[in-house]
Amino acid sequence: MQGTVRKNEIAALVKNEIKRLNEKSRFQDTKKYMQHGRVSVYEHCVRVAYTSCYLAAVLKIPVDRTALVRGALLHDYFLYDWHEKGEGHSLHGFFHPRKAWENARQDMPLSDIEKNIILRHMFPLTVVPPQFREAWLVCAADKICAMKETVSKR
Ligand SMILES: [Fe+2]
Ligand SMILES: [Fe+2]
Repeated sequence: MQGTVRKNEIAALVKNEIKRLNEKSRFQDTKKYMQHGRVSVYEHCVRVAYTSCYLAAVLKIPVDRTALVRGALLHDYFLYDWHEKGEGHSLHGFFHPRKAWENARQDMPLSDIEKNIILRHMFPLTVVPPQFREAWLVCAADKICAMKETVSKR
């Protein structure tokens, strides 16, 4: 995705991938869980998908757009309420990428890029860095979105 940022094109791409995920996964279940403040995991993941696409376009980084969007949408596909105490979620930050990947691969085959996006999005908290441009973009977009969501709830 190079050149000017085409909002409509990004919106259509994200919408289409959500539709495809809805056909073969539990993606809608992410609406049941909250991420930051009043933002659900679903909303957060959609925001990260948009932001990843914008970053790729603005920075003129060539990407596999489908993998970028799918990986972004699934990066927090852990499917539990991480705010619940006593549920073994105290190390959520470290372990949820693996849980998200395990859930996603139960539902559908994943490309290497999609797998890497999901598993490495918490870098540098989880020490192994992303391996693909798409995974770096989602890693950055996730932090931008998380910061905005956390600040806007205050
Ligand atoms: Fe995450
Ligand atoms: Fe996230």
